[in-house]
Amino acid sequence: MKHLLKMLDLSENEILELLDLADQLKYELKHGIPHPLLQGKTLGMIFQKASTRTRVSFETGIYQLGGYGLFLSSHDLQIGRGEPVEDTARVLSRYLDGIMIRTFEQAEVEALASYGSIPVINGLTDFCHPCQVLADLMTIREHKGVLQGLKMCYIGDGNNMANSLIVGGLKTGMSVSVACPEGYHPAGEVLDFAAGYGDKFQLTASCTEAAAGADVIFTDVWASMGQEEEAAQRREVFAGYQVNDQLLAAAAPECMVQHCLPAHRGEEITAQVFEAHAQEIFDEAENRLHAQKAVMATVMR
Ligand code: CP
Ligand code: NVA
Repeated sequence: MKHLLKMLDLSENEILELLDLADQLKYELKHGIPHPLLQGKTLGMIFQKASTRTRVSFETGIYQLGGYGLFLSSHDLQIGRGEPVEDTARVLSRYLDGIMIRTFEQAEVEALASYGSIPVINGLTDFCHPCQVLADLMTIREHKGVLQGLKMCYIGDGNNMANSLIVGGLKTGMSVSVACPEGYHPAGEVLDFAAGYGDKFQLTASCTEAAAGADVIFTDVWASMGQEEEAAQRREVFAGYQVNDQLLAAAAPECMVQHCLPAHRGEEITAQVFEAHAQEIFDEAENRLHAQKAVMATVMR
């Protein structure tokens, strides 16, 4: 594995190896066992969008691996003034050992990887959020013991989270059911991939149909970063796409609820469901740290 650009690029084995390493690094951290796998290495972290979890978990994670993290806001970089990504990639490759980037266009991340000569990690684009989904799979496996054979459900916008969860879930042997309103479906590339899994994948407009018998239910914000101007219109479109007690009644007993955060209580999830599943949701947030350390150690070693 040279980069982490999107879940579509990973084999099932690569995903499972990352999850195993993440579990091991979590165990070592909790038991005070040092793991300086990236001693003396530097990770540049480019942010063109806001972040709490991604920034703090990457910066802390590289430090725990013995390396150094450099926070690079696009407001301060020349890339924010129009320097081409192709040039930025070649320059940064002369200084750094790895780059994490959060931006809008997936093509920008792919260009960074193809023009640069160091590993690139996608910290979220409009298309996908692979680091989040690795943490999500880790959390499900931690709580349920397995992934294979479980039913994953996603409710809401067919956005970066939906795109990555569909691929991650199917590749690890889960069945995946997605409820999205018409016009807000996941990306065509992802739906083409999912079509190869036959009846293990379902796309419907009905939340209760998608949630039926689910072992884990995911949701995400109705308006993602960059869609702030559409927020009012999206509140109308997504009004019925909420994870609430009524929806959970259709799921399997002991169904988990996951949310990548930040959450909007009263919109995609009720405050009651959020608080009832807070342990799982904050385990998920914590696991960003462990999963990303596994990613960095794998691509930057
Ligand atoms: N879930 C997630 O990526 O959070 P941040 O936007 O805070 O990084
Ligand atoms: N879909 C959300 C995820 C945030 C982590 C967004 O892109 O804003």
